[in-house]
Amino acid sequence: MSDAPEEIVVVDELVKDFRPGFGLRKKRVLHGISFKVRRGEIFGFVGPNGAGKTTTLKVLMGLIHASGGRASILGHDIGESAYRRHVGFLPENPWFYDHLTGREFLDFYARVAGVGVAGRADRCAELLDRVGLSHAADARLRTYSKGMLQRAGIAQALVHDPSVVFLDEPMSGLDPIGRKEIRDLILRLHTEGKTVLMNTHILSDVEMLCDRVAIIVQGRIRYEGCIGDFLQNEERATDVVLGAVSPDVVEQFETRFEAGVKGRGDRIEFRVAEKHLEEVLRIALDTGAEVKAVTPHRVSLESIFLSAVEAEGAER
Ligand SMILES: Nc1ncnc2c1ncn2[C@@H]1O[C@H](COP(=O)(O)OP(=O)(O)OP(=O)(O)O)[C@@H](O)[C@H]1O
Ligand SMILES: [Mg+2]
Repeated sequence: MSDAPEEIVVVDELVKDFRPGFGLRKKRVLHGISFKVRRGEIFGFVGPNGAGKTTTLKVLMGLIHASGGRASILGHDIGESAYRRHVGFLPENPWFYDHLTGREFLDFYARVAGVGVAGRADRCAELLDRVGLSHAADARLRTYSKGMLQRAGIAQALVHDPSVVFLDEPMSGLDPIGRKEIRDLILRLHTEGKTVLMNTHILSDVEMLCDRVAIIVQGRIRYEGCIGDFLQNEERATDVVLGAVSPDVVEQFETRFEAGVKGRGDRIEFRVAEKHLEEVLRIALDTGAEVKAVTPHRVSLESIFLSAVEAEGAER
């Protein structure tokens, strides 16, 4: 795939309408969304429930048709089928034939994906090993835990060695250890140079894994780019902890700097905008207070995400 373009997934003004039932008004779920996933990156497609993430992946996988706009994968329009053998897909709610063993399940998908009989057994064994399921290879899927099933689902997505991998909520419903295991698997795909597009609303996973993100809220892209740049654009704040502060100084902090002060007297805590920090500290020291801690507050993606949702709600 050395001649493949740098932009592996290009989504351009994509529109999707659903008609809830015959004669009912159509509902627009994707309002002309655009974003690009570059070669070799872990791209986070982030948004709250119902934002349109799964719908977008289904359109990209050719499972449903777009109502407008275009998209291409590896330089091929999604109307073509040529690209599909290079794409692996973990659906949001994979359906498992639970009477199959892990090994039979993978063999089934390897056959569907056209993996030849020669080397198929080795390929399945290698994948089971990679996702940490060798010990359960001959146990039926109905005996697997949620984390094991999710790892089997990822093995399924990789069975034909795709260069692009779409994962719809790969960490959902997993405990912290299960999530770490999936994160490690995704990082390994990244090391191997694969391009990963991952739907999620678990923002800490995004912050840990993704090179770039697109944030989608109610069918519209709110941001596309590096998470770091996104966070830097936000106003910075600092958390301050002081001791031995007189009540009138506390009041001054609350009224002048809109600092929501918690605690009293011996230990108070509040957050101030970075631009006010110097003045706040000067007042504290001049009035004999003790400065116990001054910590830069990193605006979390979560809070920005919530404010995007609130802004959307306010517009409606
Ligand atoms: N087949 C369908 N018919 C009608 N509406 C649909 C259909 N599929 C999805 N929708 C609607 O489209 C919107 C987007 O759904 P989608 O599943 O893409 O969201 P999502 O971002 O994946 O959410 P989640 O985080 O819950 O998985 C929702 O309002 C949903 O109800
Ligand atoms: Mg979804």
